[in-house]
Amino acid sequence: ASASSALSLVSNPNLSLLDSELQVVEDCKEFPVVVVVVGASGDLARKKTLPALFSLFYHNLLPLSFAVVGYARSKLSVEEFRSSVSSNLVCRVGDRECCEAKTRAFLERCFYFSGQYGSLEDWLNFDRWLSEDIEPRMNQSDTATRGARRAPGRLFYLAIPPSVFAETLRSISRGAMAPEELGAWTRVIVEKPFGRDSESYMALRDLVAECFPEEALYRIDHYVGKPLVANLTTLRLGNFVFDALWNRHCIESVQVVFKEDFGVEGRAGYFDAYGIIRDILQNHLLQVLSIIAMDPPASPHAADINEAKLRLLYDIKPLHAKDFIIGQYDRYRSERGVPKDSCTATFAACVVQIDNERWRGVPFVMLAGKALDERKVYVKVAFHETPNHTFIPEELRDKRNTFYIEIQPRPAVELSFITKTPDLEGRVVQTKLDLVYNESFSAEAQDMPDAYERLISDAIVGDRTLFISDAQISRAWELFDPALKELERDPPVQPVIYPYGSKGPILPETLIKKYMAGRM
Ligand code: NDP
Ligand code: BG6
Repeated sequence: ASASSALSLVSNPNLSLLDSELQVVEDCKEFPVVVVVVGASGDLARKKTLPALFSLFYHNLLPLSFAVVGYARSKLSVEEFRSSVSSNLVCRVGDRECCEAKTRAFLERCFYFSGQYGSLEDWLNFDRWLSEDIEPRMNQSDTATRGARRAPGRLFYLAIPPSVFAETLRSISRGAMAPEELGAWTRVIVEKPFGRDSESYMALRDLVAECFPEEALYRIDHYVGKPLVANLTTLRLGNFVFDALWNRHCIESVQVVFKEDFGVEGRAGYFDAYGIIRDILQNHLLQVLSIIAMDPPASPHAADINEAKLRLLYDIKPLHAKDFIIGQYDRYRSERGVPKDSCTATFAACVVQIDNERWRGVPFVMLAGKALDERKVYVKVAFHETPNHTFIPEELRDKRNTFYIEIQPRPAVELSFITKTPDLEGRVVQTKLDLVYNESFSAEAQDMPDAYERLISDAIVGDRTLFISDAQISRAWELFDPALKELERDPPVQPVIYPYGSKGPILPETLIKKYMAGRM
């Protein structure tokens, strides 16, 4: 059983469990684990990683014996660390008493160690502290009573800037690996972006390969773990109506759009060096696009899905500067940490062309922007204009059937179509059939797991299905390298300045029209 099935099995008591699947869940729960959150003082750790761990604990999805250890340079006492962890914990379901009790129990299992990321000495001290002070306590409190005496597995979650990945991994591999001889594994979760371009990715990959075998590496792209993204394959391939229409003969264009209504918010140090293309398009949006456009995989298993995605990535034509519109919000250069003459894009939109039988000629727009008018991530598939105009009034002729999938903030699926109003007038209008998750699955939607919960749970049980393969990342960089080089040449291409909170320099529909008119 995969970890994701483990997650749904345990959280859905109505499912009948196969004995073998139950066994996987139980086996994993028996195995003690220490999750080391490296960069525990940072934004990602505070907002996503630690709350996700708590939520897994709340739902009894963590091993019976576990500890969460924060590692960062900041000098924090364990009490200070616990207090910063606790301020971000949320219980989605259950009563207050239960939530408070679970929070207390979780915090008791949180510890903190201050050290430099690249210092072998600090990691050796950490290893000693962990194996002498923390792990024996874990064994006494839980596992000993169940007769299992194994050294805990160690899952290192790297929530640090990419600039310190390499030195950190090298030092962990030399100083803080779990003792294999006592049956313990070591795994590492690495956050995107993986490098800045093909060259730096390959250097990082070679270095990492010297420290860890491929199967110990979990390259996370949390968009793949979002419930609506994880559902895309089923929506597409589980429904004849969509599966049969999923090609250039029926589909006119596809949009994959990411909009945020806030700016870089204290992350300028990282963001200015990377920009929106590397932050969102090269990974999150390309992953979503590849799931939308891949040929049907042979099976739902990791290897087949990854193969189908990779084949699709090889059918995409590499992107050039001419395929892009880039923008920057007007207040960006006055953000703390941003150089006054920065040309870093906070908005980028491009047309992706897929050169295969299924998609040749269909524009796929990827658009991402910070500091726009709303926070929304969606996919919009527009079908061709209907060839039969007999039943459509002139003013609706440019309307299309669209299949809209809102990934966040209001997970929903909508199909727009033309119909008559039921009154005497019987006007022809465009309307929609919709499935809004919070309404149709009200109980389940209340407890919808965050992407990080699913992915961390998968890493704990050793399921790499939803993690990104080396081959996919290499190809993703190959696709973006030419555009990045051309946009960042000396002098760089100037981004279009757009007002904070606006719709940005171009709408996806306008970009599609421009492309169709041969103006790109
Ligand atoms: P932060 O800037 O908050 O950095 C995390 C921690 O790393 C800091 O608390 C700091 O801890 C340490 N740190 C910061 N800058 C440096 C530096 N120059 N050298 C050494 N250590 C430093 O980053 P985030 O938490 O936002 O992101 C971490 C990783 O996660 C990045 O790779 C990012 O791309 C990725 N990511 C972030 C998301 C988010 O929502 N924030 C979402 C998805 C991915 P201390 O000083 O205590 O050592
Ligand atoms: C991260 C980016 O990968 O994703 C951030 O580094 C962005 O810039 C974030 O804000 C968005 O994630 P989510 O899950 O909030 O949509």
